[in-house]
Amino acid sequence: MKINVLYTPLSADELYFTGKTTVVIDVLRATTTIITALQNGAKEIVPVATVEFAVKVSGGMFGGQTLLGGERNTKKIEGFALGNSPMEYSADVVAGKSVVLYTTNGTKALVKAKFSADLFACSFANVSALAKHLSSLSKDVEILCAGRSNNFSLEDTVCAGKLISEIEKLNADISLSDSARASISLSKSFGKSILKMLKETEHGKILIENGFEEDLKYCSKLNSAEAIPYFSGNALKLLPVDAGTAVSVKAE
Ligand code: MLT
Repeated sequence: MKINVLYTPLSADELYFTGKTTVVIDVLRATTTIITALQNGAKEIVPVATVEFAVKVSGGMFGGQTLLGGERNTKKIEGFALGNSPMEYSADVVAGKSVVLYTTNGTKALVKAKFSADLFACSFANVSALAKHLSSLSKDVEILCAGRSNNFSLEDTVCAGKLISEIEKLNADISLSDSARASISLSKSFGKSILKMLKETEHGKILIENGFEEDLKYCSKLNSAEAIPYFSGNALKLLPVDAGTAVSVKAE
């Protein structure tokens, strides 16, 4: 089992992911929000790469059971029902709903990786659950960090390092790329207090300035969820807990 980490979406084009097993990480906050929404009973999350497309698909495709969510410059978008704070995606709001989600980096990274054979979303919340599943799949893994505006982001890379360390505990037969090894090293240096690390990151500081400090606390929780979002068709859904094999993506 080979594991590689792409520090930013710029490191690869869409076709690079064709047929691969890919994990997208956007700790602050898209993948934490996606995990929360699915854990709280959302039917599916449709990640989109533009606000215009979000508005278009939410219009008639999902029979009125659709919520538009996401952010621009960390703030809720005008006309959208929800922003990108994971805590907004509570069961009473999202249960049974299709959520069309647009975010600056996270949903774009997911859309970029849509040709993967197996595509999962990860944040600190589901590291352990996803590590178990990937270890049982035993396929090579690409970890795509959403980063910030195509730049490196520490929190996504530290999360990648934690995920790889967990897989290493379960699967002795793994080989790591240089970027995967460096991610483990960063997670050892910065991952002891995840909240402290998040507060000191570039994105963390911007979220604090914009009044979202509580989100950092929420996003720092390690292994707080069992939910594993997997991409199938055009949406992320909850992987059944006892799923022995990954669900393959139908490219659309
Ligand atoms: C992103 O996709 O870049 C983030 O989720 C942005 C944010 O929520 O601040």
